[in-house]
Amino acid sequence: MINGIKLAPSILSADFARLGELVREAEAAGADYIHIDVMDGRFVPVISMGTPIVEAVRRVTGLTLDIHLMIEEPERHIGAFMDAGGDIINVHVEATRHLHRMAREVRGREKLAGACINPGTPVSALESLLPELDQVIVMGVNPGWSGQKLIEGTLPKVRRVREMIDGAGLATGVEVDGGVTVENAPVCAAAGANVLVAASAVFNPPPADASVAENMARLKEALAAGAK
Ligand code: DX5
Ligand code: ZN
Repeated sequence: MINGIKLAPSILSADFARLGELVREAEAAGADYIHIDVMDGRFVPVISMGTPIVEAVRRVTGLTLDIHLMIEEPERHIGAFMDAGGDIINVHVEATRHLHRMAREVRGREKLAGACINPGTPVSALESLLPELDQVIVMGVNPGWSGQKLIEGTLPKVRRVREMIDGAGLATGVEVDGGVTVENAPVCAAAGANVLVAASAVFNPPPADASVAENMARLKEALAAGAK
């Protein structure tokens, strides 16, 4: 944690043949959460990973596993992701009619409940449920892939969510997911995020070749310096 900001490396950009090793490197470099992107080929166009990967990551780290479910009908699967070792279960408000029920189910198992909003979804979609949530994820990109550019228009939504949470005296976390870089991480933090997800900025897929430790150090330095 740097200046109150947590870093959540997303394994979506990691070399899956070296997954355990890279997760350990991220932990050693000061990661707070490991973010796991689950995609079903329906809510988003592509398929990524499921519970076996969550179980595998659970075996190599004690860090909080931040499960981002980009799937239709998440209510059918949240139990399995909790069983697999997920700690924060995040569902998209666009994917369910029953966010309140799911948040209750997750908290009932003493896990943390999160809700995500796509770039086109207004923050008002979850305003009334904030007391039921441990975390809000404001997507900085349209979900589906790592390595996309942050959509600047999502930052005012981060500010708005932060105002709503602080105004209500809640401790709900605000996570920005997608497009976070060394350059814009301090800007996201200044907008009110206290958790930043980063896939390509940490796991740096080829042709770049910096280590996870180097990439994490650069993010931390940028956060320590703050927004310019
Ligand atoms: C996007 C995923 C993100 C993604 C972030 O659909 O939810 O978590 O892995 O990738 P970067 O940090 O490269 O934008
Ligand atoms: Zn994600």
